[in-house]
Amino acid sequence: MAAASAPSAPSAPAAPPFFAFEHVSKAFGANRVLEDVSFTVARGETLCIMGRSGVGKSVSLRLFMGFLKPDQGRVIAAENDITDWSEAQLTRLHEKVTMVFQSGALFDSLTVGENVAFPLEQRGSLSEEEIATVVDGLLDMLEIRRYRDELPARLSTGMKRAVAIARALAARPEGILYDEPTTMVDPLMVQTIADLMQKVQHQVKLTSVVVTHDTRLARRLGDRVVLLHDSRLRFIGTVAEMDASDDPVLKTFLAEDEVTLAAAGPRS
Ligand SMILES: Nc1ncnc2c1ncn2[C@@H]1O[C@H](COP(=O)(O)OP(=O)(O)OP(=O)(O)O)[C@@H](O)[C@H]1O
Ligand SMILES: [Mg+2]
Repeated sequence: MAAASAPSAPSAPAAPPFFAFEHVSKAFGANRVLEDVSFTVARGETLCIMGRSGVGKSVSLRLFMGFLKPDQGRVIAAENDITDWSEAQLTRLHEKVTMVFQSGALFDSLTVGENVAFPLEQRGSLSEEEIATVVDGLLDMLEIRRYRDELPARLSTGMKRAVAIARALAARPEGILYDEPTTMVDPLMVQTIADLMQKVQHQVKLTSVVVTHDTRLARRLGDRVVLLHDSRLRFIGTVAEMDASDDPVLKTFLAEDEVTLAAAGPRS
């Protein structure tokens, strides 16, 4: 065999982002919520999105789920350009990307265990026994197994959040979107939810986007953080870069958050 000189290996193509906005704009009538927003989330990364109320954080998550379409720009989720996807295609996306809603959105008439089992039963590929094993494993991980046979109405808001996280994980997603996982719960429960999210982050290899007002949660979980402000992406970077930034808008946001957190009482 002739020893052909090996062609120089082409440099490996950059891995596609798991989630991305490419020049995304979204308005509701005259209300221009997002304007020309671009950022990426790499596979395995946790990105925290911060910003004031009404700035478009929940809208951003709904764009990643395909529940909303952008007016301009492209939306990438699970490494696919989903901008023009049909309902049927989005159903397949939702096997890979799940969302923990701001409200929790549990089924009131189903027990905790049945709520967590629901996505698995929908899929129909597992036996009852296999489903029970997965559900118990998730309830253990989220430390809520003792509530398995309770109805959600009997649980605190914080415990309902934990159930909602377990249910979102039951679908064995590759990506998870959390909308304000720690609002409306007492300071002690904030700590518990943050601990659980960190545990999930370490035990399950997921790409996560966490929408939060709470800079402490963003500091704990975020590989990088985003600040949305006045319809624009104002800042993106690591927590260290955030702390080193001279941007007056970012500094004001962080200072105001310190005051809010201090008023909410000691936490960490
Ligand atoms: N379906 C909709 N129709 C009309 N306006 C909408 C719709 N969804 C969101 N909006 C508007 O878009 C803006 C951004 O809403 P969004 O829910 O993303 O805010 P947010 O950053 O999540 O705020 P919060 O921190 O209060 O949850 C708001 O002005 C809201 O009223
Ligand atoms: Mg919101």
